[in-house]
Amino acid sequence: MDPAAPILIFDSGVGGLSVLAPTRALLPNVPIVYAADSAGFPYGIRSDAELAARVPAILGRLVERFRPRLAVIACNTASTIALDHVRAALDLPVVGTVPAIKPAAERSRSRVIGVLGTEATVRQPYVDELTARFAADCTVLRHGSSKLVALAEAKLGGAPIDPAAIAAAVRPLLDQPGGERMDTLVLACTHFPLIAEELAVALPGVEFVDGSLGIGRRIAYLTRGQP
Ligand code: DGL
Repeated sequence: MDPAAPILIFDSGVGGLSVLAPTRALLPNVPIVYAADSAGFPYGIRSDAELAARVPAILGRLVERFRPRLAVIACNTASTIALDHVRAALDLPVVGTVPAIKPAAERSRSRVIGVLGTEATVRQPYVDELTARFAADCTVLRHGSSKLVALAEAKLGGAPIDPAAIAAAVRPLLDQPGGERMDTLVLACTHFPLIAEELAVALPGVEFVDGSLGIGRRIAYLTRGQP
């Protein structure tokens, strides 16, 4: 393994920074390349066909250019649609980011959990499968919000965030039948841990679950023993 070979972290925007942070904490010395497809942002409002073609093509070009030891798709939208295509096309380990429904179902006492992602993510069959496999005895409320993605980007750009805008964006989740009993929420978009504090104000008493720490651990495991 070339010690200069980086870990490639990819997202449509700044969301992958929520995966970068635990990865950097676990692997302080490994070079990391962070790539954002800002020309394609936001992914959440694009069609499945468009993303299934775009994501593998971009990752192919990034891998050619940076020769990473491992690639991370730090985006639930891209992972739930294109992870298999990317793995089939690339000859290196690829770590995806998919909604943390399993740990959320393990933690929920009320048996009502939410999945907050992008519009594209929450409609994916992949989410149906995770729900059937790990949360069959739960009511699973889904909501996609590109507004929250835009607010997270704005926050990282230094703009003030209006709490009323956050509250309005999560309201459709609470308005679904059973919404008032939701005690656990999957942050199924890597942008959302970046606005977790603001979301907590809008959703008091709801525990948030996201996969970023687990992904950091997975990356550390897959690169163990490497220089
Ligand atoms: N950060 C991405 C995700 O996890 C999506 C943001 C976007 O809509 O581009 O789904």
